[in-house]
Amino acid sequence: MNGMLTALLGWVDTRFPLTKMWKEHLSEYYAPKNFNFWYFFGSLALLVLVIQIVTGIFLTMSYKPDGQLAFFSVEYIMRDVEWGWLIRYMHSTGASAFFVVVYLHMFRGLMYGSYKGKRELIWIFGCLIYLALMAEAFLGYLLPWGQMSFWGAQVIVNLFSAVPFIGEELSVWIRGDFVVSDATLNRFFAFHVIAVPLVLLGLVVAHIIALHEIGSNNPDGVEIKKHKDPETGIPLDGIPFHPYYTVKDIVGVVVFLMFFSAVIFFAPEMNGFFLEHPNFDPADPMVTPAHIAPVWYFTPFYAILRAVPSIAGSAFPGVVVMGAAVVILFFLPWLDRQEVKSIRYRGLCFKLLLWVFVADFIMLGYLGMQPTTDLYKLLAQIGTIYYFVFFFALAFIPKFEKTKPVPERVTH
Ligand code: HEM
Repeated sequence: MNGMLTALLGWVDTRFPLTKMWKEHLSEYYAPKNFNFWYFFGSLALLVLVIQIVTGIFLTMSYKPDGQLAFFSVEYIMRDVEWGWLIRYMHSTGASAFFVVVYLHMFRGLMYGSYKGKRELIWIFGCLIYLALMAEAFLGYLLPWGQMSFWGAQVIVNLFSAVPFIGEELSVWIRGDFVVSDATLNRFFAFHVIAVPLVLLGLVVAHIIALHEIGSNNPDGVEIKKHKDPETGIPLDGIPFHPYYTVKDIVGVVVFLMFFSAVIFFAPEMNGFFLEHPNFDPADPMVTPAHIAPVWYFTPFYAILRAVPSIAGSAFPGVVVMGAAVVILFFLPWLDRQEVKSIRYRGLCFKLLLWVFVADFIMLGYLGMQPTTDLYKLLAQIGTIYYFVFFFALAFIPKFEKTKPVPERVTH
């Protein structure tokens, strides 16, 4: 039996580099031996991506992308399709879980300066993934064709009409109609189930290829390739990804699945955070919900959008500032000029800036969920200013930052 398998593998290997790829990316990919908790989230993001694709395929088997049928086909999935409720809750919870995992993954990058040391492209592919993920979530949210699906899409697509000169035509072109309609639902479905997932998959592959080309960073921000065993050429502080990190990641997967199942089985709506209450009513173009707010993962950007005063009744300045809040992420590797990568060896000013940034992002997220009042608007304006101050401050602090000496080798 063993002999037959070896022969089969040999047959494949002469035609396709299976063993070579296994070695390069797993059994002989040497990752720093000091990965910690924060290094769980890359593999968890991969897991959630797989969950979303598999549950998405099953949902598509019973879902109807039709303005007359969409809402009721989701109800049908929830009530009549065998295990339909589980598939649907896995997918809706998966959307939020994706953002939880990706936000923590990005935060790890910020803490350890993982975009430095020739890792700019890993970060840029990551930012493109984040953009694609936002598009995917926005498109998918229209599909249940509930009140919030409809009005959320209406509000967001209307933002495009703020673009000078071509705005009106642009938003009609996106919707395929003068209002969000059956035509919009059909095209959003096409983009959600095939176009954007293809882009997302391609970007994730590029992200990992770029990572494996240069090698992983680590909580010390030390380049492990600087110290190699003179005989084997293996980094002295590296351990093979497989079996060491495959096993570590399985622990992360199990703990993640415990939380994920707890939400699915006990709080799938998460009190309106994961599935908003107005979305249990079918879309009605004649009735606007009292308070339109996007799902939690978009609310920091929604708060920024609302914080910027409109000019001559046009929301365009808000749209530009909101866009800039996402685009600025791409420039991070060039804004943060400090050579010391990890927060462990950076000065107090960086630590303060980063933790206030986290608090600011959470505050903006909260404000984006609330109806605007004068006080909330003022807070959102302060929050928006700090959001940008953070990125530009990174460029200036190295001039006076007191960093600690970075060790030559990784620490335990
Ligand atoms: C579908 C979403 C994503 C997937 C599946 C994914 C996957 C991964 C994996 C498997 C790793 C290696 C393991 C690890 O370091 O945790 C990684 C590393 C990394 N990712 Fe992502 N990622 C995603 C999104 C993002 C985003 C949105 C960003 C930032 C904007 C990002 C930035 C990085 C960086 C900088 C590294 C290198 C970390 C280091 O070496 O310290 N990723 N990613």
